[in-house]
Amino acid sequence: MRQQADMIVGLQWGDEGKGKIVDHMAQTHDVVCRFAGGHNAGHTIVVDGVSYALHLIPSGVLNPKAINIIGNGVVLSPENLIDKELKQFPSLEGRLFISDKAHLLLPYHAQIDQAKEKLRKRAIGTTGKGIGPAYADKIARSGHRVGELHNPEKLTQKILSYFEDHRVMFDVMEIEQPDPSELKDLLTHYRDQLECYITDTTNLLWDYLQEGKKILLEGAQGTMLDIDHGTYPFVTSSNTVSAGACTGLGLNPKDIGRVTGIAKAYCTRVGNGPFPTEDFTEQGNRMADVGREFGTTTGRKRRCGWFDAVATKHACRLNGCDQIALMKLDVLDGFDEVKVCVQYRFEGEEIDYVPYDLEGVEPIYESFKGWKSVKGIREYDVLPQEAKRYIKEIERLTQTKVGIISTSPDRKDTIVVR
Ligand code: GDP
Ligand code: IMO
Ligand code: MG
Repeated sequence: MRQQADMIVGLQWGDEGKGKIVDHMAQTHDVVCRFAGGHNAGHTIVVDGVSYALHLIPSGVLNPKAINIIGNGVVLSPENLIDKELKQFPSLEGRLFISDKAHLLLPYHAQIDQAKEKLRKRAIGTTGKGIGPAYADKIARSGHRVGELHNPEKLTQKILSYFEDHRVMFDVMEIEQPDPSELKDLLTHYRDQLECYITDTTNLLWDYLQEGKKILLEGAQGTMLDIDHGTYPFVTSSNTVSAGACTGLGLNPKDIGRVTGIAKAYCTRVGNGPFPTEDFTEQGNRMADVGREFGTTTGRKRRCGWFDAVATKHACRLNGCDQIALMKLDVLDGFDEVKVCVQYRFEGEEIDYVPYDLEGVEPIYESFKGWKSVKGIREYDVLPQEAKRYIKEIERLTQTKVGIISTSPDRKDTIVVR
C-alpha cells in the first residue's frame, strides 16, 4: 500500500501545544507540512531549555533532518517570514519549500484587518495580522499568489490595479495606495529572499509519498476556530480541521493516515466568542498563571477554563482522530478538585452535542479529586492514580484513546502510552 501521511490537529480553540508534539513527532518523520492559516499561528517549542517561537515555518524545522513544506492552503506574509522567522535559523535552502500557489498576505491585508475590527460593533478579536482579508481576496479571486513573485514588475502592476478596483474601500479605511516604485522594490526584495524556496509543493509531496518518506501534516489553530465548524463568526478564516490538509496541500483523503488530536487538559481561548467552560474565578487565573497562558503571536492573555468533553468529542469525530495528545496536565497539579464538562444545558435541555451556536450554552460538570504533581513525569505507570482516572474519563467521554501525555514544555517530558 502507498505511504500515508500522519497528521496533528488542534481540538480546541488553538494553542493546545501542537508545536511541542509536531517537534516531538518530527524526530521520526522526514517531512513536516503546514496546510492552512498564516502567521496568526504561534507555536512555542522548548528544546533543552531554549525556547523558539514559530508562526509560518512548520515546527519540524528544529529537527535538522526534517524537510518543511508550506502548502498552497497557507496565506504567507513574506515580511513576517523574512524579517522575523527565517532570521532565527541559518539558511533553510533545501530544507524549506513554499508552494507557488500559496496566497500572498501583503501589508495592506493587516491594515484592512485592523480597520475592520475597529469598525465592527463586536470585534472578533483577530490577531490583526491580515488573515481574514487575505483569505477573502483568495475566495473573491482578487488575491495574488507566491508564484507571482517571480515577476515583481508584473505583480506591481496587478497590485496597483487591485487598489484601483477597491479604491472606495481603501478611501473609507484611510489606507494609502503604495508608491509604485517602493512597491516594486519591496516585491523584488521578497523575490530575492524567497525564490530559492518557491516550488510546486504538491508534486514534491506526491514524490515523497511515492518514495515512502514519512510525512507529518501540521494543523494550525484549532477545530473550534474552523471557518465552517467553529464558533462562527468568532473563528479564523480557514479550514483548520483535518480535511483542510487535502485542499491545503493537494492530497486526497486516501493519502491521510493516523490523525492525532491535540487538546490541553483544560481549555483556553484568545479573542472573543463563546467559551462555555470559561472559569472567571481564582481557578481560571491559576491555570493562566501556571500555564503561562499568554499568546505567542499577540501577547494577549488567554481566557481559561475546564476541559470541555462535549466539544472535544465533536472535534475528534470531525477530524477522525485515532488518538488524543493530552497536553499541560502538569498545569492542573495541586488543584483539590478538577472538573470536566460532560454535557451542555441549552434552552432548558441537557444535550451532549455541539449545537448551532454555543452562545448561552451552560456547562454541566463532573468533578474529580485532584493530584499532587505530574510535572516532568515520563512514564504512564508513575502517574498518580487521580491523574490516571482523569485521563480515563476523558477517553470515555471523547471515545478516543489518550495516546500521548505531556507533563512540561520540554520535548523530553512526554509520555507515549503503550
Ligand atoms: P500551539 O499553538 O498549539 O503550538 O501552542 P502554543 O505554543 O501557542 O502554546 C502552548 C504553550 O504551552 C507553549 O508555551 C508550550 O511551551 C507550552 N507547553 C506545551 N506542552 C506543555 C506541557 O505539557 N506543560 C506545560 N506546562 N507547558 C506546555
Ligand atoms: P495556533 O496555531 C489561538 C484566533 C484569534 C481570533 C480568531 C480570528 O497558535 O493555535 P485571525 O487573526 O485568525 O483572523 O483571528 O482566531 N486565533 C488563534 N487563537 N491560537 C491560534 O493559532 C490562533 N490563530 C487565530 O485570537 O480569536
Ligand atoms: Mg499557539
